[in-house]
Amino acid sequence: MSVKNKQSAHHALATWLRDLANAGGTGGLNWHVHAARSLQRWLPTRELIAAFLAGVHTDDKHLILIGCSAGWMLPTPWLARFECIDVYDIDPLVPLLFGLRHARELKQQGITVRYHRQDAIAGLPALLHQHPKACLWFDNVLGQLSFRLGDEDMAERQLAQLKHLLKGRSWGSLHDVYSGPIDADMPLPAYDTLTWTRLDDLPEDAARVRIGEQVHTHEEAAQLLLGKMHAKGVWHDHVTRTVFAPGTSTTMMPWAFKPHYWHGLQAGWVRP
Ligand SMILES: C[S@@+](CC[C@H](N)C(=O)[O-])C[C@H]1O[C@@H](n2cnc3c(N)ncnc32)[C@H](O)[C@@H]1O
Repeated sequence: MSVKNKQSAHHALATWLRDLANAGGTGGLNWHVHAARSLQRWLPTRELIAAFLAGVHTDDKHLILIGCSAGWMLPTPWLARFECIDVYDIDPLVPLLFGLRHARELKQQGITVRYHRQDAIAGLPALLHQHPKACLWFDNVLGQLSFRLGDEDMAERQLAQLKHLLKGRSWGSLHDVYSGPIDADMPLPAYDTLTWTRLDDLPEDAARVRIGEQVHTHEEAAQLLLGKMHAKGVWHDHVTRTVFAPGTSTTMMPWAFKPHYWHGLQAGWVRP
């Protein structure tokens, strides 16, 4: 092996090990251990996700599933609506664990599942080219882009661009919007959803959001969402505000990620 080849083999091994451990801070072994131990606490949110996806109907028979990990929060019956699923995740454990949670059953139903270990966000244009007829589901991955890139501004710009790349496709995403500590002295928040539609492309301090029938400033809407989760202290903004185009109706739902550290998740589906 030449010195250059040796260096690139070391680099590939280091990336593989890092992604195995924590997938750039967004998954990996850390995530699987936490998810496996939290499944019961996550049940109400898993049911809200299943209810949301049950309402997603598309004629596409081919799904590109991005960042699904083992599919800890995904309902198998929704996946079973497709004939072929291409799974993209950087975590080397995904084929084994997604296989156990979903693919075994899907394969019994004659559904093809193929695995790809690659960065599906940086490589999105090539994926769309390879799979011209597929719809896409980003499975709680876009809200972690700023951790992976280590740059919030760059992540926000990339996230705002995705919808333009995806023009003409059916696609959807579940992603973090805010996360942070909740008030441990209050009763646990209720698992209510909010119908949330961003109304314009104005900067955050001037933007308007419709929640149900009421129009709010973005700041008021965010406070309402955080208030429902009994937020306390400083919450993290995952810079996903502009993933969906203005006018896209989305569902906000709470998630007890840890007993007293919750996330506000947004789910939406876009038809071409
Ligand atoms: C928070 S976990 C998702 C959890 C998943 N929805 C579940 O129910 O278990 C984020 C996942 O996205 C993967 N990931 C992060 N960035 C990615 C990228 N650029 N391309 C593909 N997968 C990515 C991580 O490896 C991890 O499995």
